[in-house]
Amino acid sequence: MKYVYIDTMGCQMNKSDTERMLGMLSHFGYEETHEPEKADLLMVNTCSIRQLSEDKAFSAVGTWGKWKKEENKNIKIGFCGCVAQQKAEQIFKRAPYVDFVLGTHKIYALPEIIERINRGERVCECTETNKTEDDVSDKYEIQRVKGVNAWIPITEGCNNFCTYCIVPYTRGRERSRLPEIIIKEAKDALNAGFKEITLLGQNVDSYGKDFKDRNYRLADLLRELNAIEGKFRIRFVTSYPTDITDELIKTVVELDKVCEYFHIPMQSGSSQVLKAMNRRYDRETYAKIVKKVRDMVPDVTITSDFIAGFPGETEEQFEETLSAIDEFALDYSNLASYSPREKTVAAKWVDKFIPENIKDERFQRLNKKIQENCLKSNLKYVGREMEVLVESFYEHKGQMINSGKTRNFKTVHIPYDKDLTGKFINVKITDAKTWYLKGEIVP
Ligand code: SAH
Ligand code: SF4
Ligand code: F3S
Repeated sequence: MKYVYIDTMGCQMNKSDTERMLGMLSHFGYEETHEPEKADLLMVNTCSIRQLSEDKAFSAVGTWGKWKKEENKNIKIGFCGCVAQQKAEQIFKRAPYVDFVLGTHKIYALPEIIERINRGERVCECTETNKTEDDVSDKYEIQRVKGVNAWIPITEGCNNFCTYCIVPYTRGRERSRLPEIIIKEAKDALNAGFKEITLLGQNVDSYGKDFKDRNYRLADLLRELNAIEGKFRIRFVTSYPTDITDELIKTVVELDKVCEYFHIPMQSGSSQVLKAMNRRYDRETYAKIVKKVRDMVPDVTITSDFIAGFPGETEEQFEETLSAIDEFALDYSNLASYSPREKTVAAKWVDKFIPENIKDERFQRLNKKIQENCLKSNLKYVGREMEVLVESFYEHKGQMINSGKTRNFKTVHIPYDKDLTGKFINVKITDAKTWYLKGEIVP
């Protein structure tokens, strides 16, 4: 038996890729370990969305490179994911102890790569493909992280080319996976005891646009998944604002297993900044979409992403982002300071870059606004009875709790009596904090 350690950075897409790579490796006698010191094979699955994420990847392999040089020449080191896809052979220059570089397009080449590095070769597999690798995905089991939620990618890549974003360069053009494969993966996960399926894509609502032989979109997929027997939940992320169709919203309302939750990144509250970002909507259009979703879906949670300090962003434009969070009552938002990325359009606008101290200050102000709104959103549910799917139990502020999620993606802490992981329970909400609700089981 050999051991593999994988350090996974970045978004759920990377987490899902890691689960697939672990499945392939187990087929070849590798067992996962969470102790890097014990591993024969060390891999990092990297994210390149910001400079900081990229730096983290190189610092992880740097430590392993030292071990390899000073302690154990036999360990193998793999550099995978979005930074690998983008930098390919250049990785060997910066980190000469790396045995293989594997991009995001060809993760199913991993078994062959392992054979080659074990023969002493050094391998770089970062060629782009314009098709999904579904033809081999049924050969290996997916080794999912234990829990209640199973991630299932439905589309990969992105065609939008927002001026700040590296994803189209690291994940390629948009490719939809076949419904029959997605449905099989969902059934397998449910049979294995998972209680929730989250469909993944950079723009889930574009699902199926690239099918030539059929007219089949996200709403169709949701309907088929909803028809699978048993009690479970379905979620999908991320929605590009203008791709959300009326049919999709109606489908969410109509289907009992599909949860009342939309992640609709806005990125900026200013129409001018949105234009410079190459987002295909302005503030008014975004407002209309959010209103429509709220009007049609009762108790819906809408979350967003924002970037602080995009090149050229003025104080007034920044304030429009602050006011957007209030005006659209966004329940929660992820926040990032703008980070210039190689190859992207905005990275060339050096003369418009916002100084770090101003970016930091805007980040803090946005963060405060997001927290205020999150608490406001949580307070709406005090006194209500809600269904919670328990995800785990742990100690929180000196007290044992069962922690789970409502259908609309609110975290609820329930006093611990016994482990309820994987159970659906009815809970009365007794209190609201910024990041979670408190509740008691309804007898
Ligand atoms: N497809 C999704 C976003 C995927 S990337 C969408 O279109 O909304 C996840 C988030 O990372 C983005 O929403 C954005 O807020 C942030 N992000 C992407 N590139 C960034 C950059 N260069 N600097 C800072 N944040 C960035
Ligand atoms: Fe990046 Fe824009 Fe594509 Fe989202 S839609 S992944 S932000 S390029
Ligand atoms: Fe990062 Fe790649 Fe995801 S750049 S955010 S891991 S698609």
